[in-house]
Amino acid sequence: MSEKILVTGGLGYIGSHVVVELCAAGYEPVIVDNLSNARASVLERLERLTQRALTHYDVDIRNRAALETVLEREPGAGLIHLAAFKAVGESVEEPLKYYDNNVAGSVALFDVFERAGGGGIVFSSSAMVYGDVKVFPLHEGMPVQPNNPYGASKAMMEQVLADLAQAPGAKTRGLSLRYFNPAGAHDSALIGEDPKDRPNNLFPIIVQVAVGQRDHLTIFGEDYDTPDGTGVRDYIHVVDLAQAHVMALRALLDGAFEQPFTALNLGTGTPYSVREVVTAFERELGQTLPQKMGERRSGDVATLLADPSAAERAIGWSAQRDLPDMVRDAWRWAGAARQWGLWNDDDQS
Ligand code: UFG
Repeated sequence: MSEKILVTGGLGYIGSHVVVELCAAGYEPVIVDNLSNARASVLERLERLTQRALTHYDVDIRNRAALETVLEREPGAGLIHLAAFKAVGESVEEPLKYYDNNVAGSVALFDVFERAGGGGIVFSSSAMVYGDVKVFPLHEGMPVQPNNPYGASKAMMEQVLADLAQAPGAKTRGLSLRYFNPAGAHDSALIGEDPKDRPNNLFPIIVQVAVGQRDHLTIFGEDYDTPDGTGVRDYIHVVDLAQAHVMALRALLDGAFEQPFTALNLGTGTPYSVREVVTAFERELGQTLPQKMGERRSGDVATLLADPSAAERAIGWSAQRDLPDMVRDAWRWAGAARQWGLWNDDDQS
């Protein structure tokens, strides 16, 4: 019988891709997702894609009693924890919402998991834990000094997980994955990024411009200290990211780590500017995209770039897909999503 792995946030953008890769690797994912930022139809599409019936619990991670019931019914040695709020700007405006869901919710979840027998926890973290650093690329030994409540909530949970794993008699071990900028979609076009609210990120915004839901893209700043003046990021294909979770989990369950807690960057190590991303889309679409230069967006940094070599050494993972793959798959997914009426002009204006 295949091993059950709990996946919180398993119907979300990254979580849904993790579920697919878990199935492909022979695990049995058990999805916990309260649908706060995902559509119920993701489950049907996942079932089509994986050709199997999947288990989903509509449970909030702050609900200990419900989590206990899930773990009694679905005992497993692995937990991949992705359920979280993730909008940086909103986290500045409503910090307690972020600390309540991301921190208090994760503490409840980890506590219930440890009490149920523990095992390996793979935690969804972010490059935001490094804060506004000026040295690149970023490696895991650099100080954790987040500069917004979202990043702080991720940094706090890394600490909580490290402390739990190091506690005497703890049955849980932890691995934190610090994502850089996830982009793209599954090449089946059955799942992809599907923000319920107005998107803030570059890829979904470019897609909206390309399909005419927005008049133009505003490039936030052209006076950064980068080769072309626009912001530089380390975009990583969501399928590469999902595969890293499965490799990380396997290594954790196999006892491959000497330390009870490890943090790893997940990026490609290849920098791309906003302009380069726009050009890659224009090439894919065969048309120019309406764009305007704007002011810098508050809270943005010039460059975010990973040193991904520790992940390669620790779990044998490195990204296999490049920017044109991300652009192609994001575009293909956008076409499918619109065909199914997932994105109508009313709710995505
Ligand atoms: N950008 C624009 N115009 C837009 C949107 C974005 O020029 O309309 C630029 C940004 O200024 C930045 C780049 O595109 O230079 C990427 O911006 P995103 O909003 O796509 O991504 P961020 O780097 O700001 O943040 C993302 C996620 C966070 C995550 C972080 C980790 O939103 O949740 O990456 O690296 F924590």
